[in-house]
Amino acid sequence: MRKERYAGRMSPIWQLLEVKATEHMRRHPNEWFETDPTRADRLSGRAAGLSIDYSKQRVTDDVIDGLLALADERRVLALRDAMFAGEHINGSEDRAVLHVALRNRSNRPIRFDGVDVMPEVNAVLDHMESFVEAVHSGAWRGFAGDRITDVVNIGVGGSDLGTRMVCRALGSYADRGIRVHFVSNIAPSDLASKLAVLDPKTTLFVVASKSFGTQETLANARSARRWFLRSAPDEAAIKKHFVAVSTHTERVREFGIDPANMFPIWDWVGGRYSLWSAIGLPIALFLGMDRFKALLDGAHALDEEFRLTSGRDNLALILGLIDVWNADFLGSDSLAIFPYGTRLGFLPAHLQQVMMESNGKRVRIDGQPVDSHTSPVLWGGLGTNGQHAFYQLLHQGTRLIPSDFISAIRTHSPIGGQQRQLLANLVAQSRALMLGRTLEEVEAQMRAEGAAESTIERIASHRVCPGGQPSNTILFPQMTPEAVGALLALYEHRVFVAGAVWQIDSFDQWGVELGKQMADEVEPFIGTDEPAEPFDGSTQWLLDEIRAHWQADQNAD
Ligand code: F6P
Repeated sequence: MRKERYAGRMSPIWQLLEVKATEHMRRHPNEWFETDPTRADRLSGRAAGLSIDYSKQRVTDDVIDGLLALADERRVLALRDAMFAGEHINGSEDRAVLHVALRNRSNRPIRFDGVDVMPEVNAVLDHMESFVEAVHSGAWRGFAGDRITDVVNIGVGGSDLGTRMVCRALGSYADRGIRVHFVSNIAPSDLASKLAVLDPKTTLFVVASKSFGTQETLANARSARRWFLRSAPDEAAIKKHFVAVSTHTERVREFGIDPANMFPIWDWVGGRYSLWSAIGLPIALFLGMDRFKALLDGAHALDEEFRLTSGRDNLALILGLIDVWNADFLGSDSLAIFPYGTRLGFLPAHLQQVMMESNGKRVRIDGQPVDSHTSPVLWGGLGTNGQHAFYQLLHQGTRLIPSDFISAIRTHSPIGGQQRQLLANLVAQSRALMLGRTLEEVEAQMRAEGAAESTIERIASHRVCPGGQPSNTILFPQMTPEAVGALLALYEHRVFVAGAVWQIDSFDQWGVELGKQMADEVEPFIGTDEPAEPFDGSTQWLLDEIRAHWQADQNAD
């Protein structure tokens, strides 16, 4: 990477945006709508079937222009081109970042170290397809000759969240007679509660781990294998009931899974960007390979928008820049994701990994400290449920909290008037958060309701909502595989853009390593004798508590 990529926060563009932010925080965004009838038309757009309104953000045209200038200064689109060209933009791991190749439905050659990866990508898709068809047709049977009815994905993080999220989102397409289950946590009840309702004769385990070295996944997979072998005639039966998705053939073989039943992924696919690879095998088993490919089609359509456009036409670019604006210039710490529609219930958890594992960084790609804040804390939950719970803080709390409202326009489950009410709530909430309600409005309303002046004086201030909370709204016609693919790709690229502005490596995750290492150090002392060299006081106290309880159990036996 060349030196001039690293422009600091003192650049004239950054300083100009800081001045604008101070001005804008003094104004109420309502003014912009009152004085500018075409604001929503200009600050909105469509991409790959998604309708995106960002006019409720605290931005004006000159802010958007300034942010686009910042993107130029930070060479965001050059980095985008480098990603699509297979350059090693994941510098700290010296890896290319090519999840876009997994859904490159045009088959345009994409080169990694000079070699087109598309033949390999297509070969794995073909392998997935023949396997999925064999399971669906009943050609693939369990050790006792039964058809497979249940698929259990054992994986964690990127080998769990995206697949889980998509299976829930597209559950209304699940017509292939397969149920899917997800086991991710090392907490014993996660696996135990799933096994309790399963029949080993009809269950297929997908052990999903890019590294095939993740403690939780391997522990759960070993327990699943033990459970399975209690019913199976011999170890040979494993090959009909366990498949793996990984980069590591040797580790898969050592575990006892036939490498013929392994679906490869590659180092150039980051875990949190891997649902498009064979990590998505449970999606294909649950919905059919045609739906999995449609998911890839949707993501590819958005990729092409991101790859081929610039400026305001590039909505992932704009949304990523607005994330930077909110975090660094307006001083917000979090981003709330509010999917309306129960099927998108796992979206916040998936995006949490995509955004926070990617952009929760404190040094730039050149190893120097960043000079601004990086990723916001991403959180969220389902609308309308959240409206009756935590939205209170957005309406009347003291913090600026940007949010995204997301929904399909049509439902697959038309019951009564619920979809109309759902959409009304979505539209109303973002409006209420923006407009708020002034003291004068509250007083006028209370007077109209016949309240006494003394009551108005006592209560009115409690009912004021300041408004001005920024939001995006993302709508799509229906929860189809294409729409979900486009939606997820939009977020991936938006995260990419913010990371590029911050000049960090959005594709490594060194921070998570420390906790893994310490878990290994502590584990031998759980419930056993005291370590020769005590840990810090808090760790020691916790170990003592655990030991006391476990030893009490032993004495009682
Ligand atoms: O611990 C974090 C992480 O490395 C994620 O980046 C990854 O998605 C997850 O663990 C699972 O890793 P693997 O697929 O190698 O088991």
